[in-house]
Amino acid sequence: MKPMAPAAPPQRHTPPDLLHQIGDTPLLELTRIAADLPAAVTLYAKAEHLNPGGSVKDRPALAMIQDGLRTGTFGAGQTLIDATSGNTGIAYAMIGAALGRPVTLALPANASDERKRILRAYGADLILTNPMDGTDGAQRRVKALVKAEPDRYFYPDQYSNDANWRAHYEGTGHEILDQTDGRITHFVAGLGTTGTFMGVTRRLKAFDDNIRCISMQPATSLHGLEGLKHMPTAMVPRIYDAALADDTLSSTTETAHAMTRRLAREEGLLVGPSAGANVATALRVARTLDAGCVVTVLCDTGTRYLSEAFWDDED
Ligand SMILES: Cc1ncc(COP(=O)(O)O)c(C=O)c1O
Repeated sequence: MKPMAPAAPPQRHTPPDLLHQIGDTPLLELTRIAADLPAAVTLYAKAEHLNPGGSVKDRPALAMIQDGLRTGTFGAGQTLIDATSGNTGIAYAMIGAALGRPVTLALPANASDERKRILRAYGADLILTNPMDGTDGAQRRVKALVKAEPDRYFYPDQYSNDANWRAHYEGTGHEILDQTDGRITHFVAGLGTTGTFMGVTRRLKAFDDNIRCISMQPATSLHGLEGLKHMPTAMVPRIYDAALADDTLSSTTETAHAMTRRLAREEGLLVGPSAGANVATALRVARTLDAGCVVTVLCDTGTRYLSEAFWDDED
């Protein structure tokens, strides 16, 4: 008689960690905002505010960090450094904490207290730069520190890093095709680093070149819309290719704010003003159609903007 095979070891279930919660966000249909559209036109929003760091930037931050770890540019003992008080900074700080890796962020000293407190809560070290020099001053400080001690730092530089748009090619764009069963006809997204628009558009066009991809920018240079760039007057990111867009539309700050209020009050979606600008622009596109499936992005959570006065304005 053959000896009995030893019992298989009990299957150990590995609980998913925080970083596995990034991406795979729901695609929500905006029924009330779209109530006056023809029945054959649907409007959807990718709920990126539901990422664990509260924004779409969790995806590229994780992708750039993983790319750095894989290629060795983010070596053991090195500190991640960048100049951002925005969502990318929050994502770096959160992911750095989860991986046990130090994060240093340079930002103008007049960045909101709330932002500084979130970054410090995740354990990031902050370098506060002269408010008169704006975010450019913070960027110059980071570049000087990296130049002085290149071995000490990992500097992802989201504006030039291909892992930024690739996170949206492999993640966001792929998920949108899946979640719409390939029925998407139009995609609308605002431009910041441009990673979201570049990555999703490339993925959608690879699937079907007839899908119309429309980029959105603030209407003026002094727009106050966190995360968005007015390209004619901004430093243009290296990863940006304007030729990819089928069309470019603009949104005023007032339109963005009004839609941000509507999203909260009519759809129960507390999101930030760039999401409002995206949805307002997507609705404009949807109104030109007799039939179609329009998809846009809810970039971040509205809890980050509660002290802004626009919530109290009347429509
Ligand atoms: C709130 C918000 N909206 C929109 C964007 C633009 O996204 P992207 O950088 O992928 O162009 C960002 C980017 O930082 C953002 O933080």
